[in-house]
Amino acid sequence: MTRLSGRLVIATHNSGKLWEMRELLAPYGIDTVSAGELGLPEPEETGATFVENAELKARAAAQASGLPALADDSGLCVDALGGAPGLQSARWAEIGPGGPRDFAAAIEKVEAAIRATGAEPPYRAHFISVIALARPDGAVESFEGKVDGTLVFPPRGTLGFGYDPIFLPDGLKRTFGEMMTAEKQAIPADGSPALSHRARAFQAFAKACL
Ligand code: IMP
Repeated sequence: MTRLSGRLVIATHNSGKLWEMRELLAPYGIDTVSAGELGLPEPEETGATFVENAELKARAAAQASGLPALADDSGLCVDALGGAPGLQSARWAEIGPGGPRDFAAAIEKVEAAIRATGAEPPYRAHFISVIALARPDGAVESFEGKVDGTLVFPPRGTLGFGYDPIFLPDGLKRTFGEMMTAEKQAIPADGSPALSHRARAFQAFAKACL
């Protein structure tokens, strides 16, 4: 697969993800433009897996723009909930179908669902991210990253986005909501695994494509 150069579309309408992807790409000097900035429509996430959804988002943006496009599909998977909200992580935050998102409400929903199972803490969970790169000629590659941790209630911290304030990564005392993006996303210079699921997927992507 040829290395990336020139302009790259970041195929997301999620400002938190866009910020993180731009930070991850910054050291490579790649010129980025987001799907939102190009006025591209947000495709419906009809895939049955994170890989399928990441690839359909990347492919749609590459086709519409004529540029290589990078998409992330990610989610929070809670053991006590059989992996939910998982692929539905963004949907659990929607106020009405397709409506605006309220993550404080989504976090309450996760807590209520866990309590309803009678599960005892620690509440094991992981975040998954699949990053897909699509080329305008239709070629697609994807890369997965995962981070294990536990969920804490009440939520802690106001940094980050989505479910960050309830996710405590293994081995650390602060939730993702109590960390600057730069710390959550840092890519260690010695090649050891990064902290976040997205940064881990990015490490695999960077090794193959940058
Ligand atoms: P999607 O990939 O657009 O379907 O959305 C995934 C959803 O998972 C996001 O809207 C967030 O709710 C959640 N999510 C994914 N990654 C993160 C993260 O790094 N922190 C917090 N929430 C996340």
